[in-house]
Amino acid sequence: MDGNGRWAEQRGEQRTAGHRAGASSVRRVIESAPDLGISTLTLYAFSSDNWKRPPHEVEALMVLFAEYLADECQRCIDNGVRVNVIGRRDRLSAPLRARIAQTERATAHGTTLHLRIAVDYSARDAIVRAAAQLSRTPAPSRRAFSDALNAAINSRPAAPDVDLLIRTSGEQRLSDYLLWECAYAELLFCEKLWPDFGEQDLARAIEAYRLRERRFGATSPAAASAVASVAA
Ligand code: FPP
Repeated sequence: MDGNGRWAEQRGEQRTAGHRAGASSVRRVIESAPDLGISTLTLYAFSSDNWKRPPHEVEALMVLFAEYLADECQRCIDNGVRVNVIGRRDRLSAPLRARIAQTERATAHGTTLHLRIAVDYSARDAIVRAAAQLSRTPAPSRRAFSDALNAAINSRPAAPDVDLLIRTSGEQRLSDYLLWECAYAELLFCEKLWPDFGEQDLARAIEAYRLRERRFGATSPAAASAVASVAA
């Protein structure tokens, strides 16, 4: 969800105004995802490296996450959206942790969309935690590693590998996001800034994805290109 800061700066506003506008895009994307066949949507809201940002921006983001969860909880319940915050919890404030736990509990029966919001998330750290958890397992399988990884980031339920990764704002990097899960993800880079990203952009991304031939290392398109898991 890149480009909030630039979106605000282009309007002569504070970066935090861009994050607020970005929250509206989050709402729009969540609403349109199920109709596009998406069953798992993972949004990169705050990387573990984002702690390096100025304290007032970090604080504004944390407030925004808590407000968003409070404001959207009922809508998520109504729409069958299961909310799940992935990443580390121990560095978040106690009130935010409580809000996350409450939202996860309240939406736990949702089956339409598994919405994962990545907060204090680092794929490398998650891989290290999963490896530590399996240190006594001789030669763990990929499946066992995936399970350990999902447990390490509090993904409930465990999520499948990513089919499509969308990065907005013209940036073309992975930025420590879902590195294991994106092993065979299709990558789509979009010039729009996140606050300008909406339903139509998501629909276009899915359309482009469906034209891709996914071979998973084989020679013929044996696998169907149904999109289930999208990350942005
Ligand atoms: C990256 O763009 C964006 C973030 C670090 C924050 C993303 C947060 C939101 C979209 C707020 C709402 C989220 C939820 C889940 C309620 P940037 O700020 O680095 O933009 P820039 O590259 O233009 O500086």
